[in-house]
Amino acid sequence: MANDKVHIFDTTLRDGEQVPGCKLNTEQKLLIATRLDQMGVDVIEAGFPISSPGDFSSVQEITKIVKNATVCGLTRAVQKDIDVAAEALALAKRPRIHTGIGTSDSHIQHKFNATREQIIERATAAVSHAKKYVQDVEFYAEDAGRTDNEFLAQVCEAVIKAGATVLNIPDTTGYCLPEEYGAKIKYLVDNVRGIEKATLSCHCHNDLGLATANSIAGAVNGARQIECTINGIGERAGNTSLEEVVMIMRQHPGLNLTTDINTQLLYDTSQMVSEAMGMYVQPNKAIVGANAFAHSSGIHQDGVIKNRETYEIINPHDVGVETSAIVLTARSGRAALAYRAKNIGIELTKLQLDKVYEQFLHFADAKKEINDEDIPHIVDAANINSI
Ligand code: KIV
Ligand code: ZN
Repeated sequence: MANDKVHIFDTTLRDGEQVPGCKLNTEQKLLIATRLDQMGVDVIEAGFPISSPGDFSSVQEITKIVKNATVCGLTRAVQKDIDVAAEALALAKRPRIHTGIGTSDSHIQHKFNATREQIIERATAAVSHAKKYVQDVEFYAEDAGRTDNEFLAQVCEAVIKAGATVLNIPDTTGYCLPEEYGAKIKYLVDNVRGIEKATLSCHCHNDLGLATANSIAGAVNGARQIECTINGIGERAGNTSLEEVVMIMRQHPGLNLTTDINTQLLYDTSQMVSEAMGMYVQPNKAIVGANAFAHSSGIHQDGVIKNRETYEIINPHDVGVETSAIVLTARSGRAALAYRAKNIGIELTKLQLDKVYEQFLHFADAKKEINDEDIPHIVDAANINSI
């Protein structure tokens, strides 16, 4: 199979911003949108225009500054929502309306008190209405993860006929297993008439920690858009993390899936979003966490100092991290201590190193982490001048 591009749809400013306490002002949203555009994101979901006047004007302002990406606004399958989104997107070079409705039996029964037939009618009416304003209309089948595949295929077929260009298959509750989600996408590829006219999109939530795996399973089975957020922020346990899916596709060329993302901007963008939202990135977060390229156990440090690739599958430069870190703790070995001492201009012979290392362990037991300023004190305490 030839290399296949997977479109990256970033919803940091919509699903990400739904997180309590992560509200951004328009200025912050504009900075983030500008960065996403520079980074090569294909679609920026800028907000949910009918939700508040502030969100409406943020979406409108974002359309004015985005140069390359499609700018998308979310709606429910409600005419007024769609009218307002169209107005907010009026100045976009590439506008997209994202409309949809719940399709699982649970949503149909409890949220809408409706029948499957009525849901299809509302879905197609929404897409047809959005088509009056824009050519590019994405339809989401909310809770598709728990929607019966046969009915989901009927919905997809109907909305394609109404003009949907992208079919979003959200695992809204983060329930699916990767094989199950992959099989759902494959079922749609194989069973929806007219599917070649639309792009299938993965929108996976992380309630069971499977959002990234599910999105990749979707892409492997034919989806060509992944919806994700910087740092994986989003409702509850979050959304698929942009940096994770992008780096998985990059590090596994055998998947034959590519993106247009400039990966060297990933770390800085992660920091930018974290600071703007006041939402810290967990240190062990894949790709962008503070410990993602930090080595602290003696065995690993020795290996990395000899050859970085013994314990690193990603070159930190590729994601915009300056260098791997050799962290000094009581679990570190001589190789790490010698390496860090040499970095600050202290070269130690083998005998000297043995003595300094003894002192180092006492210091390290007393202190969580030894930093560069501590090293000269440890060397002094080891009294190596006579050696
Ligand atoms: O998780 C979800 O189903 C959504 C839709 C509104 C696209 O965020
Ligand atoms: Zn979502």
